[in-house]
Amino acid sequence: MKTANLFLAIAGCFAAVSAFAEAEGLTDKEIDRLIGRMTLEEKARLLVGTPGCRDSLSHRTEGAAGWTCALPELGIPSINLADGPVGVRIDPVPSTAAQVVYDEAGVPVGTLAGDAAEGAPTRYCTCFPSTTALAATWDRDAARRQGEAMGREARAYGIDVILTPGINIMRNPLCGRNFEYYSEDPLLTGRLAAAVIEGIQSQGVGTSLKHFVANNQQTGKKVNDARMTQRALREIYLRAFEYCVRKAKPWSVMGSYNRIAGEYTQTNRELMIDLLRGEWGFDGLVLTDWTVRRPTAGLLEARSALIMPGDEEIVREIVETVQSGTVKESVLDACVRDVLRLVARSLTAQGWSPSEPDLGAHAALSREIAGESMVLLKNERDALPLKTPQRIALFGATAYKSIAGGTGSSNVNKAYVRDICDGLRDAGFTLDERLRSLYEKYVAYQNEALDRYPDCPAWQKVSYHRTVLPEMDLSGNPELIDRQVGACDAAVVVLGRGSGETSDRVVEGDFNLTDAEHFLLERVAAACRRTGKRMVVVMNVCGVMEVASWRELPDAILMAWFPGQECGDAVADLLTGKVSPSGRLPMTFPLRYEDLPSSKNYPHVGQTEGRNFDYTLYEEDIWVGYRYFTTARREVAYPFGYGLSYTSFEYDDPEIRRRGQGWELSVTVRNTGRRAGREVVQLYVEAPEAEYAKPEAELRAFARTGLLQPGDEERVTLRFTDYDLASFDEARSQWRTDRGAYVARLGRSAEETILSVPFRSGSAHSWRVRDLLAPAGPITPMQVERAR
Ligand code: BGC
Repeated sequence: MKTANLFLAIAGCFAAVSAFAEAEGLTDKEIDRLIGRMTLEEKARLLVGTPGCRDSLSHRTEGAAGWTCALPELGIPSINLADGPVGVRIDPVPSTAAQVVYDEAGVPVGTLAGDAAEGAPTRYCTCFPSTTALAATWDRDAARRQGEAMGREARAYGIDVILTPGINIMRNPLCGRNFEYYSEDPLLTGRLAAAVIEGIQSQGVGTSLKHFVANNQQTGKKVNDARMTQRALREIYLRAFEYCVRKAKPWSVMGSYNRIAGEYTQTNRELMIDLLRGEWGFDGLVLTDWTVRRPTAGLLEARSALIMPGDEEIVREIVETVQSGTVKESVLDACVRDVLRLVARSLTAQGWSPSEPDLGAHAALSREIAGESMVLLKNERDALPLKTPQRIALFGATAYKSIAGGTGSSNVNKAYVRDICDGLRDAGFTLDERLRSLYEKYVAYQNEALDRYPDCPAWQKVSYHRTVLPEMDLSGNPELIDRQVGACDAAVVVLGRGSGETSDRVVEGDFNLTDAEHFLLERVAAACRRTGKRMVVVMNVCGVMEVASWRELPDAILMAWFPGQECGDAVADLLTGKVSPSGRLPMTFPLRYEDLPSSKNYPHVGQTEGRNFDYTLYEEDIWVGYRYFTTARREVAYPFGYGLSYTSFEYDDPEIRRRGQGWELSVTVRNTGRRAGREVVQLYVEAPEAEYAKPEAELRAFARTGLLQPGDEERVTLRFTDYDLASFDEARSQWRTDRGAYVARLGRSAEETILSVPFRSGSAHSWRVRDLLAPAGPITPMQVERAR
């Protein structure tokens, strides 16, 4: 390459950086002037990621997911883009040559570390609780603070863009990446994700909102056409994206792998141009999700400007498509402009220098958020909080090797994971020695038996290649269970379930319990009953599991999700009562998998073609999660928004008034119990009937109180706009808020209303939009009528 000398000339490089830095905040005019000086090949290079580009103008952070190309003679540096949703994903041990390794599905599974750079400081990042756990806090402030902390780490380590947040809707609990996503509800998803974006970007670090859009299954995701009505697309699958784009203005958006309306999202002009830019006013960069190849001309025409991770052949293709006249140079220039605008606002362009993030403070934040995210599903006979000091019979492989997060690109290379056993011990509990020694041997054995990457560096065993252990089968020695329960004051059973990017989940032995788990729960419960001991189940699991068949067995159930690196301490905070549970379910727990309307149209693991693989019919339409169960009056195990506390709250004095283009509802929340705690106030609105069916009531606002001491109260104000209330009227292609009688229900969950406040909208409101993204084939949407 003619610029090779420049890449190597360090002094020249820094001159180029500062030249670019001076131009930081470059106007569009200045960017256009720069484009005017670029050759066709230089333009093409800028649009294609460069995994091999080792010599950028200022620095390269190893372990990032991708890099843009540097054009030093023009003063254009390369920037770093790194995953992911729960913390920055880079290599913690700087090496002189490292390479990202992809598995057969194109998922980054690790890094081939080169020689460690001598004396270089380590760069561990904080692993926060899974995105689902963050959503379970229903706390925008927590989301923003997590975003800020991630932004600070990215800044310290030289990452320009974090590839987060992932906001696909939890259509079906078997989606392997649900733990990376927020909720079955677009409002909860959008509000929290926007706060994360704002937090990260407040640090001068970019975000990439993903996976745009309808990437709701892992099986067949690279070809799947998500076929749904325009109403379902607008109301359920696009709405959180729309909110984030309008409110938080992410610097970039990542096009998903799948198709929508018959066309790949990344080459879909209706999606990327008409909707994203035309209707929502997005003015950032669209980049492709990694490793799949879509027609180059189509990508450019849809302004999917940065092709990742990129290779030389794509550069050649871009040059050819423009030279042959297939794509106009003005189209290419629009893409180049998008990349340059991102580069111009990057840390790198500002003249980055390394620093040390405050990992101690971020670990404390991770523990705090994990604590706030845990959902108390059941608490009878005052089982929780447990009194310390107490002797605990601690069962479950995951208690001794706990799960901090899921696998795939969202894995964070953290310095450690605090296991639940260690958290409980350090909180003052005495753990049964016999069980501890047995499980430790089992963990050691399984670590070796299941280790598919024995030669990977030690830090990868803490993170990516940390195995999730199957439960130990104790059915051969049931007396052991009886004896150890008898010797202790209480029993705690930890259930574990991993999940990851490479696969969807299966029903048997994953969504449902395994036989070994069933046996364990039943035997421990029987021993506890006989001896009058309390039994607590802690679920260290990715998301929804079947609970109906076993929830009668324990006295208490705590959903701990994937709590991040501080797992053990956060669980201990809840079990000891240091923190009163205030998490609420961001999705519905059905009685059975088959109860979910989407279960009729979901692929099975191992499927390689056909219906649900090549295309999926979203026949459940808008009836996703609680929208279906509440409207159809179908029983669930635990409803959306559900969660208990160690204290109790009363609501009083609600008042609703018109404010600007919307409504404001205030209510007083009082802690009427004997412990300090926080309450999540959920507002569901029942809208008047229209020609099309509407759900019973939909979440339109929520808030979280501060920590209320017993007897304390807080006046909580919830705001929602007319647009927030709108449903999508597909026949007229418009958002519509109807005139008439509404009911604001303050609820403890989607099913439990505490107070109802009627209000009237004297006029209708509508917002016309273009008739876009109609499904590529016929579908018969499910009909659900509100019960009268
Ligand atoms: C994932 C993205 C991720 C990218 C880069 C892809 O496999 O789908 O979520 O950001 O890899 O690692």
